[in-house]
Amino acid sequence: SCSVRLERVLMEDLPRCDTCLVIFHLTVCDKSVERINQWNSEKLPIYEPGLDDVVKRCRGRNLFFSTDIAKSIQEADLIFISVNTPTKTIGNGKGRAADLKYIEGAARMIADLATSNKIVVEKSTVPVKAAEIIMKILRANTKPGVNYQILSNPEFLAEGTAIVDLVEAERVLIGGEDTPDGQKAVQELCWVYEHWIPAKNILTTNTWSSELSKLAANAFLAQRISSINSLSAVCEATGADVSEVARAVGRDSRIGPKFLEASIGFGGSCFQKDILNLIYLCECLNLPEVAAYWQQVVSLNDYQKTRFTRKVIESLFNTVSDKKIAILGFSFKKNTGDTRESPAIHVCKTLLDEGAKLHIYDPKVEKDQMLYELTHPYVTSEPESVRKNMEIHSSAYSAVTGAHAIVLCTEWDEFKELDFKKIYEVMMKPAYLFDGRKILDHDALLEIGFHVQTIGKRLLKGVFYIVNDNVKCRKVVQLSEHKDIGL
Ligand code: UDX
Repeated sequence: SCSVRLERVLMEDLPRCDTCLVIFHLTVCDKSVERINQWNSEKLPIYEPGLDDVVKRCRGRNLFFSTDIAKSIQEADLIFISVNTPTKTIGNGKGRAADLKYIEGAARMIADLATSNKIVVEKSTVPVKAAEIIMKILRANTKPGVNYQILSNPEFLAEGTAIVDLVEAERVLIGGEDTPDGQKAVQELCWVYEHWIPAKNILTTNTWSSELSKLAANAFLAQRISSINSLSAVCEATGADVSEVARAVGRDSRIGPKFLEASIGFGGSCFQKDILNLIYLCECLNLPEVAAYWQQVVSLNDYQKTRFTRKVIESLFNTVSDKKIAILGFSFKKNTGDTRESPAIHVCKTLLDEGAKLHIYDPKVEKDQMLYELTHPYVTSEPESVRKNMEIHSSAYSAVTGAHAIVLCTEWDEFKELDFKKIYEVMMKPAYLFDGRKILDHDALLEIGFHVQTIGKRLLKGVFYIVNDNVKCRKVVQLSEHKDIGL
């Protein structure tokens, strides 16, 4: 949770931009002493490009990290509730509904401690009508002279590009109550954002539209990925190339080119969780057809992860038992160390279940984090055996040495720069490479001698040369039928 104290200061008081008359004092609060200590240390607890610079520039000036939640609440004008809303693991709605216990806890804490008017902003992604919970708790516990307004202000930043997404937000969404006081609170928050976001990019709605829009935006984005991933299976079966299909489809300005990158499946803390939330909401509202529609986006994502892993196993003569397999990339996408719902977890789990020995390398994921993910009770009932069968490396080259196959799970740029000739030399033969992100130069890999498989495109395991009028052309053959043409 974090709180903002708005302080009007004179031009000469503090360092500021030329036009700015306001310094925002931002205090990030957490109950965890360890977490706050990390935020106050040189090594921040998360990796996010550009974040270190922002924290270094502002920490101790107008950005503070504190466990003194009471003081922060009392001093704040605006309080952002940014707590975790994990999927419920027990009881009603288990596996789909969001667990709002931390939201409720934060609201109760504010009600307990606030001694002046507050605008409480729901920043965490929540089910529609969650603001009602906050409202009920705050208004049932209001002290004399204290007035609350509750706003919904969902966050649309993506990991890996968070700072740019915040500084140059395409849109900021603010939902509030349709009452004079509600609208006044909406305008206060608009005023904060207007210090760096053009007013035309700030959208205001009612509270429930704002909450639903967040779930809808993530559901739409995930649905595009599942759509292109479904077509990647058709491409592999027909000889079409999913990148070409995406390019052709995305040229239609009504569709647009973004989020049409076929992959081994989407991951991250938001997409699956938010769609499951939406599904649960639809079920509760007795809209089973709508729930089934969105369920298919998640099911297709599971299918894509399974389909890719099955391809790896089948290509390796249908057994990976005791084979050394190098996993390149473990985070759910590049430029983040976040592993939540990473498709790499599914790939690794299946290969471990089949008896493979995994050698994993990721530029930003810590060893303990990989161990945590792969030994979690949801993933295995035999954590000791998992520990024995996985080794974590600090370089891609050491991970691939002696491997039967490389499975690329995350699209880190550095993987494109690897010396694959050198890698081929140190691998077992035949050397297999499965590019789950379509980022490598497949022609070059085939020429080196790799057996290559990727998403949404069928590749031949060889290269041949056509001599045509004395011009020697290299040509990689793509099969249009599922047979080895023996070149
Ligand atoms: C997402 C939303 O983009 C963001 O607006 C919201 O606030 C939080 O959820 P994030 O999860 O950080 O952000 O990453 P995003 O870039 O959306 O990628 C999610 C997953 O989809 C990743 O695993 C990524 O690799 C995958 N993806 C993305 C694809 O497979 N293909 C694509 O074309 C795009």
